[in-house]
Amino acid sequence: MKICCIGAGYVGGPTMAVIALKCPSVEVAVVDISVKRIAAWNSNRLPIYEPGLYDIVAQCRGRNLSFSTDVEKHVSEADIVFISVNTPTKTFGLGAGKAADLTYWESAARTIADVSTSDKIVVEKSTVPVRTGESLKKILTHNSKGINYQILSNPEFLAEGTAVQDLLRPDRVLIGGLETPEGKKAAQVLKDVYAHWVPEDRIITINLWSAELSKLVANAYLAQRISSINSISALCEATGADVSEVARAVGKDSRVGPMYLNASFGFGGSAFIKDILSLVYICKCNGLTDVAEYWKQVLKINDFQKSRFVKRVISSMFNTVVGKKIAVLGFAFKKDTGDTRDTPVIDVCKGLLDDKATLSIYDPQVSEEQLIYDLTMQKLDWDRSSSNQLLILSPTEMKQVHTARNAYEAAEGAHGVCILNDWDEFRELDYRKIYEAMCKPAFIFDGRNVVDPEKLRAIGFIVYSIGKPL
Ligand code: NAD
Ligand code: UGA
Repeated sequence: MKICCIGAGYVGGPTMAVIALKCPSVEVAVVDISVKRIAAWNSNRLPIYEPGLYDIVAQCRGRNLSFSTDVEKHVSEADIVFISVNTPTKTFGLGAGKAADLTYWESAARTIADVSTSDKIVVEKSTVPVRTGESLKKILTHNSKGINYQILSNPEFLAEGTAVQDLLRPDRVLIGGLETPEGKKAAQVLKDVYAHWVPEDRIITINLWSAELSKLVANAYLAQRISSINSISALCEATGADVSEVARAVGKDSRVGPMYLNASFGFGGSAFIKDILSLVYICKCNGLTDVAEYWKQVLKINDFQKSRFVKRVISSMFNTVVGKKIAVLGFAFKKDTGDTRDTPVIDVCKGLLDDKATLSIYDPQVSEEQLIYDLTMQKLDWDRSSSNQLLILSPTEMKQVHTARNAYEAAEGAHGVCILNDWDEFRELDYRKIYEAMCKPAFIFDGRNVVDPEKLRAIGFIVYSIGKPL
């Protein structure tokens, strides 16, 4: 059997590497239009940082796993084609700032239609709006070559930073197909691939539209939990309750469960914001305004939380941060990844720079080049009806931004330290050394509750942690 995956990104690369590892008899080719990305997959420095991934790629590459820019060849030879291209939020035109941009998805679908000469199972791996399978069918069959295509939805649930573990031991694998004999047969073929390592009771086959929608709903539910606990963190700060204690107490109820109850200064990443926006847009397109408004609140609380954090930093430091150096620890949207797409750290940086602070930023996996790119690129304000592009930072503001090679360098001479992601190394820093090198009074603002506030207070810091007594 030959599998081809279009899109060698955070999903295509790790997913196909694990399929190749677990199915030695299957030939897996990952293709992409980006020459740079494919070259990196074929090198010793993979294009994405993901714990455990390099070993798997090194083991399978050249055996039954290949990375190539020859999209046509590998697509035409494949029995199963996965579409795993990016589906970001539209930045222009109809649905700008809300709808999923299906340009890359459509171009991949058209490639399959153009180059195929044999029957194929085409699998939607990308996160797409519900009923995209219908459009896929239309594109694939538009040139009526008489080829039989079976379309499946097989959304991915891996999280960055834990991709390999998530793929090796998934909670579930979802396969959506049409309820026709051919549709069921195709679903079985894909099920057999996963059955090489995933227990059968974890492989769920459902209808195509349910599978497409389940992916958006799964992300919306996870994000909703974070916004719920984040909203409660504000109430904790106002009342003297401790959000970690509340989360533990509530999460012990097996009907609620303990996961995704870590209060933070806001969630980010390439998924939650874009997928909730997509869900909201789909609801609106179906005339369900109240449902759309309900899910929009998850994003509104996220914005509230980010601006609440910035306000806390500024008000704590005597209402002015003009010219003050603030160390920013963490720039990626979470630990164990270098991915900065939709990182909430950008909003905090922007807020502090608006008040004329000077920033020294450190993240173990984000290069200076990437950081400057992210801070200067244009961004859509999702809550506006117009399609306004906002410049994240002006050239003047950029003069106030510096990068540091480590946390100690970032904190040297700083008035405040903001901990903005949860890299393990931030838990283990020598905070006494940091305190000694800082201006006094020395402030720590922990946006992820990674440090023990009492221990830091004993050193002499003034500490603010999300949802905890001051
Ligand atoms: P990505 O941007 O990292 O990778 C997508 C790749 O597709 C890029 O390398 C791009 O060059 C390539 N591409 C685009 N159009 C192409 C074409 N026509 N032909 C060949 N290659 C093409 O994106 P990603 O993070 O891997 O996400 C892919 C999809 O999976 C998205 O829909 C996303 O929502 C979903 N998803 C992502 C994650 C995650 O953790 N990143 C998890 C689950 C689902
Ligand atoms: C998320 C989902 O967890 C995956 O299941 C899904 O496949 C993926 O989106 C996707 O569709 O792309 P990811 O965005 O990689 O994965 O990372 P998460 O671990 O879910 O974290 C997202 C954000 O929420 C991060 O900023 C994280 O710090 C924040 N978070 C997470 C919290 O603030 N509190 C928590 O309790 C958990």
